[in-house]
Amino acid sequence: MEASLDKGIFSGESSDTREEIVALLTKAYWMEIETVMSYLAASTNLDGVRAQEIRESLAGDIEDELGHAREFAGRIKELYGVVPGSEGFQAEQGYLQPPAEQTDVIHVIRGVIKAETGAIEHYTRIVEVTDGVDPVTQDMVIAILRDEQGHRRLFEGFLREYELEGKA
Ligand SMILES: [Fe+2]
Ligand SMILES: [Fe+2]
Repeated sequence: MEASLDKGIFSGESSDTREEIVALLTKAYWMEIETVMSYLAASTNLDGVRAQEIRESLAGDIEDELGHAREFAGRIKELYGVVPGSEGFQAEQGYLQPPAEQTDVIHVIRGVIKAETGAIEHYTRIVEVTDGVDPVTQDMVIAILRDEQGHRRLFEGFLREYELEGKA
């Protein structure tokens, strides 16, 4: 095939791969939406002097995660998929529900680390699946993956501080 005729991920032969990528992006989209919900609740609910840093950090992350959801939605559309409606949503972050005590910062820190780890695993998979077939999606997801690694690293630092104090 001549290079000028090669439509890459948009070619007919690639339609199965494209559908697989759209499915992976749809899952990523829902993960971001759920993270927005969980972080919004946690950043609002947390009480206490020590929670202030975590609250502010989470408030910033909400904007990042919403931005990621937008990027995933846009790419789903570009790949001829349809961004799902709310009825397609299924919650998976049982570990990020509000704790019994709203001063339980450690519960939230651990939940955030788990959510970020889940995102990192899923986005790493997308990077692998898109390798050599859809460089545009791959490039986008690599940038998002870096954000999630940064989020996780920050919260690992918070957890370490509590562990050193013997509180976690
Ligand atoms: Fe995200
Ligand atoms: Fe994140």
